Amino acid sequence: MSVTVRVPAKVNVQLAVGAARPDGFHDLANVFLAVGLYDEITVTPADELRITCTGPGADRVPLDTTNLAARAALALAARHGIDPRVHIHIAKDIPVAGGMAGGSADGAGALLACDTLWSLNSPQSELLSLCAELGSDVPFSLLGGAALGVGRGEQLTPLAVGGAFHWVFAVADGGLSTPTVFQEFDRLAAGKAIPPPTPDPALLDALRTGDAAALADTLSNDLQPAALSLRPSLAATLTTGTTAGALAALVSGSGPTTAFLTKDEETATQVATALQSSGTCHTARPTTSPARGATVVGLDRV
Ligand code: C5P
Repeated sequence: MSVTVRVPAKVNVQLAVGAARPDGFHDLANVFLAVGLYDEITVTPADELRITCTGPGADRVPLDTTNLAARAALALAARHGIDPRVHIHIAKDIPVAGGMAGGSADGAGALLACDTLWSLNSPQSELLSLCAELGSDVPFSLLGGAALGVGRGEQLTPLAVGGAFHWVFAVADGGLSTPTVFQEFDRLAAGKAIPPPTPDPALLDALRTGDAAALADTLSNDLQPAALSLRPSLAATLTTGTTAGALAALVSGSGPTTAFLTKDEETATQVATALQSSGTCHTARPTTSPARGATVVGLDRV
């Protein structure tokens, strides 16, 4: 038997970052939106726990127990006294170390896939609390749609979204490490007063009404200056997308993927073509949001 789960990437339409906490994390007001780029995780019984990975950037994905998919399988198995002997295959399409929660998606996907393979039928609340132990963004990867995340981003309140938004994601060459970007945020913030992070009511309204122009006016990412400081070439990518007709551009999460909101599908195609031919990114991917959270898409009983 094997089980396949599909899990979406995310963009943070608002990422408000507070001061560093004693535990090293930062308090956030994090408005997550799931977008239609997906990893697929397939689990199959095997002699021992092992991971394989294919797709763009697969050579940069760890295949040991530092991989969130392996940690998810081990955590679920430990909770239920199960021997975690599974082969986890990750078919990657979410940019690796790109600020789109690709690793978190694999953690959430492996958790749901193993839960299904082992017929555990865990309630969603139990899976969400296991996800929160794995990483700050993992609960949202399970949930999908749109949500406000507070605390370190793991305490979620689902948000209503009034319509489809069109996006282009410009995938950069290479990744950025999330802890490094937060450290750069701290360095740039040194000596400045950092207000407590709060969600922007105008942005939540724009999501609720499905108003792309209003969402474009309210997009914000406090990690953007840190990502640009570490990767100055991203400024040219952002300018290319807005010049080509995007309503707004921003760094996705901790980067280096950049996100472009457009008014419709046709403009998204136009912006993607301009980005692709500009040489300022590796690949330009048009897609839409919101997207469904982790979903079982294949169940093979052979
Ligand atoms: O939770 P996760 O393991 O994904 O976080 C990775 C790193 O990102 C943390 O070790 C920390 O350096 C940084 N981080 C943070 N504040 C958050 C979330 C992540 O500083 N709210």
